[in-house]
Amino acid sequence: MMPEGYYMSKKTDAICEEVCGEEATQSVSSMSRLPCIFRGMDLKAFIFLFVVVPLCIFGVYLHSQKITYFLRPIWDRAPKPFHDIPHYYHENVSMETLCKLHGWGVRESPRRVYDAVVFNNELDMLSIRWNELYPYITEFVLLESNSTFSGIPKPLFFKNNKEQFKYVESRLTYGMIGGRFKKGENPFVEEAYQRVALDRLLRFAGITDDDLLIMSDVDEIPSAHTINLLRWCDDIPRVLHLRLKNYLYSFEFLVDDKSWRASVHRYQTGKTRYAHYRRTDDLLADAGWHCSFCFRHISEFTFKMKAYSHVDRVKFSDFLKHSRIQDIICKGADLFDMLPEEYTFKEIIGKLGPVPRSYSAVHLPSYLLQNAEKYKYLLPGNCLRERG
Ligand SMILES: *[C@@H]1O[C@H](CO)[C@@H](O)[C@H](O)[C@H]1NC(C)=O
Ligand SMILES: *[C@@H]1O[C@H](CO)[C@@H](O)[C@H](O)[C@H]1NC(C)=O
Repeated sequence: MMPEGYYMSKKTDAICEEVCGEEATQSVSSMSRLPCIFRGMDLKAFIFLFVVVPLCIFGVYLHSQKITYFLRPIWDRAPKPFHDIPHYYHENVSMETLCKLHGWGVRESPRRVYDAVVFNNELDMLSIRWNELYPYITEFVLLESNSTFSGIPKPLFFKNNKEQFKYVESRLTYGMIGGRFKKGENPFVEEAYQRVALDRLLRFAGITDDDLLIMSDVDEIPSAHTINLLRWCDDIPRVLHLRLKNYLYSFEFLVDDKSWRASVHRYQTGKTRYAHYRRTDDLLADAGWHCSFCFRHISEFTFKMKAYSHVDRVKFSDFLKHSRIQDIICKGADLFDMLPEEYTFKEIIGKLGPVPRSYSAVHLPSYLLQNAEKYKYLLPGNCLRERG
């Protein structure tokens, strides 16, 4: 008997030819031109038709998402490339020189800076973010809802933990918005609704023309020196995306440097709208960190997986099992068992399999290292998460 895999790899015709061909040499004369499949309807063909073929079809069905992703270079074109702006920085170089290196002039006084986020449940990321940016932010603006983007009721995590954030109190504009809880609606609609509310909250917080506004998710953290540069230099683009290093689960797993959604705007009343998609071609290199699924507790992973704008990716209830999630975090594998979202076969293949460990905690937010014990799970060698 041939191993089963042998059949899987062959086209129907080829197998047919083989089965018939063998017979033909043994009894050269008599064989008529009957369809091969009936002549050779022996055990092998039977197994092939009624076991192997259905198994293949079932396999394709189970992995259809993977197959589509793998074939992405065929059905999808890469978006227009960004215009990459080189980024110059060293702590010992004067602001005047830094601005000049970017082709910008230096201002007499810095712009005011607003940092606005829609908050879900990322309390640790929020602490790291706010401490990183604190010296340069005029006003922190935070909006939270009692509904996730996918319409699931959620506690007001920020409000319930606000004593942790006493240090920003004098510079914080907080807003709460009630969810609409529309069943079966596309999660992007609720997301857009919350972002519009954030626009209103920003005006309430007193933002004015030419103030800098950071638009990013909580886990997309611009580095402090980047924001300092942008507030001090004149002639920076009106809208500028920030290229951030992409991390997964912790700062130990560096995926790539392709996070681009975060942006910085010179505010224009009546024109600037809060959003989280591509607004312009300009992209400033090496401007911070994006740590996805960087949670302390396993329960936060399951919460995020359900609340996420891509709920459709949770295909099996088994996906939410604690032991499975813990295992995946330690391996640097994918929570949704998906293939990389890339546009060339070279990049897809290059990224297959788990993310390798970097063993590096260099050039990370300073607050993270100053409180390394508290945020141990975000640093190299600590992939075990707390239950509950
Ligand atoms: C930065 O400048 C100070 C004072 O000019 C100097 O002592 C120090 O060595 C410099 N540090 C680096 C890393 O170049
Ligand atoms: C959400 O908040 C709104 C506004 O405060 C409130 O009317 C509503 O009852 C809340 N819903 C849930 C499920 O907590």
